[in-house]
Amino acid sequence: MARINEHYLKLQAGYLFPEIGRRVAAFASEHPDADLIRLGIGDVTLPLAPAVVEAMRAAVVAFGNEAGFRGYGPEQGYDFLLEAIREQDFRTRGVELANDEIFVSDGSKQDSGNIQEILGADCRIAVTDPVYPVYVDTNVMAGRSGAADAEGRFEGIVYLAATEANGFMPGPPEEPVDIAYLCSPNNPTGAVASRANLEAWVAWARERDALLVFDAAYDAFIQDSALPRSIYEIEGARECAIEMRSFSKRAGFTGVRCAYTVIPKELSGSTASGERVGLNGLWARRHTTKFNSVPYVVQKAAAASLVGEGRKQCGEQVAYYMANARALREGLAEAGLKLFGGEHAPYIWLCTPDGLSSWDCFDKLLNDAHVVCTPGSGFGAAGEGYVRISAFNSRERVEQAIPRIRDAFCG
Ligand code: MLT
Repeated sequence: MARINEHYLKLQAGYLFPEIGRRVAAFASEHPDADLIRLGIGDVTLPLAPAVVEAMRAAVVAFGNEAGFRGYGPEQGYDFLLEAIREQDFRTRGVELANDEIFVSDGSKQDSGNIQEILGADCRIAVTDPVYPVYVDTNVMAGRSGAADAEGRFEGIVYLAATEANGFMPGPPEEPVDIAYLCSPNNPTGAVASRANLEAWVAWARERDALLVFDAAYDAFIQDSALPRSIYEIEGARECAIEMRSFSKRAGFTGVRCAYTVIPKELSGSTASGERVGLNGLWARRHTTKFNSVPYVVQKAAAASLVGEGRKQCGEQVAYYMANARALREGLAEAGLKLFGGEHAPYIWLCTPDGLSSWDCFDKLLNDAHVVCTPGSGFGAAGEGYVRISAFNSRERVEQAIPRIRDAFCG
């Protein structure tokens, strides 16, 4: 008999974004004339940068002739991309990595969901609340939790409330935890970790022999160069942290798919008998077993986004979305709405007016403003009372959305 993994049954609702998609599709079919503005899922809208397209085109052409054709690529990524990553994303920030500490993949969603496979089933995890749902759901699927309570918090998982009081960037917990997931710039709150916050986490992890999983998928949106972009800018992080980065948002690759995970050689975990084992080797074993490399064409495109004209063009795209974020922040704040984020991230964390619940606010914006947002409670119990508004859309649509949102609440 094929028994199922019953841990899946603990996951009460469907994954957040398909769930929202269903509600929006139902609304659209009942109101076919409604002009919906989608500021829900953080999906890019600008086309690929010309230099990126050119790199892809050249790679496709190369595949069509004998000299340029390639079969399976190296599982960890081609050297040309690994070197561009080392040079542009890390050396420019004073961080030295080796090529074999970088694992190119097809997405940070996958990486942040899969990383727990190399860790013990009895590890206790901590997440911020609200949180990118992938970290929690994948650990629930793997059996690292009990059942969910009425608010959707899973027994056995440590939730660290991200609140206005702590700038939506909680510090380390007191209770024992083996693995903590951090995300900066943060999805969903749009907050960014200060150097002091990351130093506190690294010091805590080293003292407790804990592991930090640092998701920096939105690093390119940081506007202040004094803020850390990489956890490895913090001394000692190589001994306690894994970092994930993505080309999805910074180069418009949500449909192209390319990301990478960094696992320094110093990083180790322990066996039940106390022997230390390097995590780099374990992840390499998993990666080579389960993954056959990102397509060459995509890696060429990713490398083009990191250097020269491609870097400049992708930087302009990030600036475009950040100008949207600024317009949203200013336009909504002017109307007296309370909001956070949007300064170093493409997300605005809007406090729901009049004590509305997150889902009621989502429904109100959908019905009255024909604007799609994401209910904060979908990211965790502490997200209740907020909605997330994404800056990923055209300037024109963002400018149309602002008065609609204002009218829905203040009109
Ligand atoms: C989001 O809207 O939170 C993101 O698009 C989800 C993701 O990157 O997987």
